Amino acid sequence: MATNVSSGPAVGGKAYPVIHHTYDVVVVGAGGAGLRATLGCAEAGLKTACVTKVFPTRSHTVAAQGGVAASLGNMGPDNWRWHMYDTVKGSDWLGDQDSIEYLCRHAPDAVYELEHYGVPFSRTEDGRIYQRPFGGMTTEFGEGPPAQRTCAAADRTGHAMLHTLYGQSLRHSAEFFIEYFAIDLMMDQDGACRGVVALNLDDGTIHAFRAKKTILATGGYGRAYFSCTSAHTCTGDGNAMVLRAGLPLQDMEFVQFHPTGIYGAGVLITEGARGEGGYLTNSQGERFMERYAPHAKDLASRDVVSRSMTVEIREGRGVGSEGDHIHLHLDHLDPKILAERLPGITESAKIFAGVDLRRQPIPVIPTVHYNMGGIPTNFHGEVLTLKDGNPDHVVPGLMAIGEAACVSVHGANRLGSNSLIDLVVFGRAAGLRCADVVDSKERQAELPGDAVDLALSRLDRFRYAKGETPTAALRLRMQKTMQANCAVFRDGPVMQEGIQKINEIWKHSDDIKVTDRSLIWNSDLVETLEFDNLIAQAAVTVTGAENRKESRGAHAREDFPKRDDANWMKHTLAFADYGQKTVRLDFRPVHTYTLTNEISYIEPKARVY
Ligand code: FUM
Repeated sequence: MATNVSSGPAVGGKAYPVIHHTYDVVVVGAGGAGLRATLGCAEAGLKTACVTKVFPTRSHTVAAQGGVAASLGNMGPDNWRWHMYDTVKGSDWLGDQDSIEYLCRHAPDAVYELEHYGVPFSRTEDGRIYQRPFGGMTTEFGEGPPAQRTCAAADRTGHAMLHTLYGQSLRHSAEFFIEYFAIDLMMDQDGACRGVVALNLDDGTIHAFRAKKTILATGGYGRAYFSCTSAHTCTGDGNAMVLRAGLPLQDMEFVQFHPTGIYGAGVLITEGARGEGGYLTNSQGERFMERYAPHAKDLASRDVVSRSMTVEIREGRGVGSEGDHIHLHLDHLDPKILAERLPGITESAKIFAGVDLRRQPIPVIPTVHYNMGGIPTNFHGEVLTLKDGNPDHVVPGLMAIGEAACVSVHGANRLGSNSLIDLVVFGRAAGLRCADVVDSKERQAELPGDAVDLALSRLDRFRYAKGETPTAALRLRMQKTMQANCAVFRDGPVMQEGIQKINEIWKHSDDIKVTDRSLIWNSDLVETLEFDNLIAQAAVTVTGAENRKESRGAHAREDFPKRDDANWMKHTLAFADYGQKTVRLDFRPVHTYTLTNEISYIEPKARVY
């Protein structure tokens, strides 16, 4: 509900009218995490708005296929402690164990809630939620057979979740501002967040959403890379807002490559395909994963499988006329299983690779899929920063969840299906926290007089940018540099070149050219704002990667091939200096303690599958 319209400050000689709104909570982003938090806040009776740049059911969670991890034990024995062990090991001991305990112990309840909200999960013969094996998920603290822990709605689990959570949010009267692009946070002089400013893409109006809590659920920034499974909308807008507010991002050097993106298209083929019995082969027809991960084979964790595929290709055993990809086989599986459990990828393989997976292998290649790094938070979803020597200082008014956040449960490498559970467990946690600490009756703090200025001057600067270089040209240079200089395997000189090139592109963005000056459906302007968001994240990613002199999880350095716990078991914090266009790094300790005495700290050891 709009409360008033002010003429807004004159920016670049123009006055932008601003429509003001006041809410208890404003959630930015309507993927799985954003919708779960929106629902939680609305259900608790808080006046809640969700601001989203795409229609909620088109958020990128819609592309999540394989499922959501929770130790329900429907297909065999399971236990949240085993899930916790696997997640800590998967994270290569960079995850915070208090947060990981929170995730794994609350996962079953979060999934049953989804079931009761109406998510149409696939079913076992006796009517329980169907669960499939996924990489790195085991039993008996890694000593037992693979766990069937990933709860699936065929291979369209994210799609099913989004539709259900959107419906439930509407049922609880959450208000949606759809196709509104968030430009910047409103921060006050004490460093507290007071809300967010957004552009209504449909009519060009500017909106200031004042709130007691602003929850960023803006997803990852896969589009900093040339080839990724992420939607074009995955530009990490919330991460960049945080950097512009002078706050840090955490562990951005950890970028996950999914082993099975369709060659040439980047479209995801779910890990659930290997969970259902699919396997990889090289040009000699060899099931090479048996050599790299004798125990887990094709269901080793993603970093291990992606590296193994890359080694096969590099050593001349790739498939195709250029020997530059790998085959994924499902052609031996019962067509009934494929139709029931993997209908989505059957279609994707046909459309994007031109293959009938019942008869032919799918050409696949490791493809950027997920950002382990993001906005540092505690397990309530409250944003943290380094202040007066305190690495866990809570930023008043600001929260972050989902892929945008780094809570940190995934550490250096995320296990497949731990993303969807992260969305719902921490989306739910953020709702619970808001219900606890936000008092609807309490007066809102006054907005500082210049609250919208930062956002409007940013908008105006790009709207009237008169440089020589089109946004698309800069974006392509950035994407190709990240793909070449910050990839599956990394080394010092290549990343130093990457830093130099990314910083040049960042500086070159002063010469950006926008040709459309309008405010209504101006994709030239929106793509420029998104590029501006991406380039700062590319800079902190490659700078953090070059600085980390070890190999851990998804960060595999050829010049430092070993994990180095003595020096590097710590989180990277990266700050961006927008004036100089440079990055400053600092660190934060990993939480080496659990939440309760019901499980002890899991000691580091070598990570083999
Ligand atoms: O392979 C997949 O279905 C993706 C799942 C995930 O990233 O968690």
